[in-house]
Amino acid sequence: MNPKAQIAVLDAGGQYCHLIARKVRDLGVYAEVRASEIPAPELADVRGIIISGGPSSVYDPGSPTVDPKIFDLGVPVLGICYGQQLMAHLLGGEVRKGDHGEYGSALLELDEASDPMFSGLAGQQQVWMSHRDTVERVPQGWRVAGRTPTCAVAAIAEPARGFYAVQFHLEVVHTPRGKEYLSNFVFGVCGCEKDWDPRNRIPAIEEEIRTCVGDRKVFFFVSGGVDSTVAFALCTRALGPERVRGVYVDTGLMRAGETDFVRRMGNISIEHAEDQFLTALAGVTDPERKRHIIGEEFVRVQERIIETRHIAEENWILGQGTIYPDTIESGGTAKAALIKTHHNRVAGIQRLIECGRIVEPLKSFYKDEVREVGRELDLAGELLDRHPFPGPGLAIRCLCSEFDAPVRHTPDGVIVPVHSVGVQGDERSYAPVIAIDALDHARATELINRLREVNRVIALASTGTPVDAMQVRACSLTPERLERLRQADAIVRGLTHRTGYDHQVWQFPVILIPLGTANAPDSIVLRPVDSVDGMTAQSVLMPRDLLNCICTEVLQVPGIGAVFYDLTHKPPGTIEWE
Ligand code: XMP
Repeated sequence: MNPKAQIAVLDAGGQYCHLIARKVRDLGVYAEVRASEIPAPELADVRGIIISGGPSSVYDPGSPTVDPKIFDLGVPVLGICYGQQLMAHLLGGEVRKGDHGEYGSALLELDEASDPMFSGLAGQQQVWMSHRDTVERVPQGWRVAGRTPTCAVAAIAEPARGFYAVQFHLEVVHTPRGKEYLSNFVFGVCGCEKDWDPRNRIPAIEEEIRTCVGDRKVFFFVSGGVDSTVAFALCTRALGPERVRGVYVDTGLMRAGETDFVRRMGNISIEHAEDQFLTALAGVTDPERKRHIIGEEFVRVQERIIETRHIAEENWILGQGTIYPDTIESGGTAKAALIKTHHNRVAGIQRLIECGRIVEPLKSFYKDEVREVGRELDLAGELLDRHPFPGPGLAIRCLCSEFDAPVRHTPDGVIVPVHSVGVQGDERSYAPVIAIDALDHARATELINRLREVNRVIALASTGTPVDAMQVRACSLTPERLERLRQADAIVRGLTHRTGYDHQVWQFPVILIPLGTANAPDSIVLRPVDSVDGMTAQSVLMPRDLLNCICTEVLQVPGIGAVFYDLTHKPPGTIEWE
């Protein structure tokens, strides 16, 4: 059993609310997420309350709120982003509706202060902003403790009651001192004690698996990724190898050499379903439809396996390596805005969940916690240190287009009418891309904040043809285009592995976009990112030599005419393009 939560994180609809809870757990203090409107008496036992960010404005009808009586419990409260605005609004201050957003890094000036929340933090520092509205006037008794050049009320305090709030996201890695703020609140303001370590949870997870599975057996669709393999290993330990089966589905959407990698892991059988997936996806261009189709085909394959292997249905349940961000970003928590449908939460699998025929031993863990658990289980570093790879595979990295469309020259760059998914102010966006000439992150951030019509900035890294002479053409997922992407991806993986660069980045998606000329109709986009858990990410620049080698080799792949570099951070872009 988990310990009793010392910190309650109230979910005001932001994709970051579980990240806050997890950061608190990283400090060794058990935290849980609760719906924001939870009645105050249910929070009487906690030592501290944190109100998360969220996509709404306090002025939106029906926007998330909290029971105002939480402010009378005598429990310290910290508001983050929307949480700050909500506290100011409910306690008598004033919030101003913003007409344009502030996304990305900002420089905070924090005043000298003696109270425990801001102790040791005074001075200038980098923080991460993602908001539209701002606090205009603080409630009576509060003081402004910090500001940025564009946000006059960036940190506020009412120390007598242990109430604090910040406009920036202190829970993300791009606020480098965020952990100190959180630690100050959790230990200094709330007086919490350490009671949490994920590695100590292994016996409890195994017990939960045994309770959930009962006398049935579990089969896994193992993807070769960290999560499904750790989940598979945990089930094998909890239930014994004879009650756990691993099946790897070759969807035809996997990277080069993946099936052989999985085969080497042992005790896993391979199911060939390449034709089934490619037929179902033929002609489809919409990203959400692709994801749904892939999820549904997975369920069909599962049903076929049950049938052909004569497994009595009620004796088997499905095991999955679902982790926290998978559920968060699909709107799995009370209010997280729908950003992308992750393939293991589509309707078919949802039905299995509703019937209770599913075990997801890692669903409350984050990626790095899963790795910690994996190391504790003695799993190989080669497997645990792999970059994450999305369940729908190369399908969501092979962009399609319904129409032929020209590029459009503007003074800021060339608008490329290839749509990609993004997340701005916690809401999902789906918009075109702008291509610029220089690998310049500062310019990219400036453009993203200023231009409403795009959500991603790419720079041309290498081509024989100017972008103005290229066009987007109608196309869908074909074996030929997937093979193009597979080859480019294998080149990038090979070169980054040989140079050790793969250990310097968190993930390195390679994307195929239908932008090019008659002879070379597609382009490649390189997307190396730094991240801690995928919830936020920073586009990073790779060494020039390595980039040149990658470009030279990728441009040899038939059909690929240009290499671009994605300069977009998350937010406002997502890591994947779809
Ligand atoms: P985004 O693109 O949302 O990705 O910034 C965050 C992390 O999640 C991975 N991802 C997925 N993983 N099924 C998965 O198992 C999916 O459908 C999926 N979509 C994105 C992505 O690779 C990144 O690590």
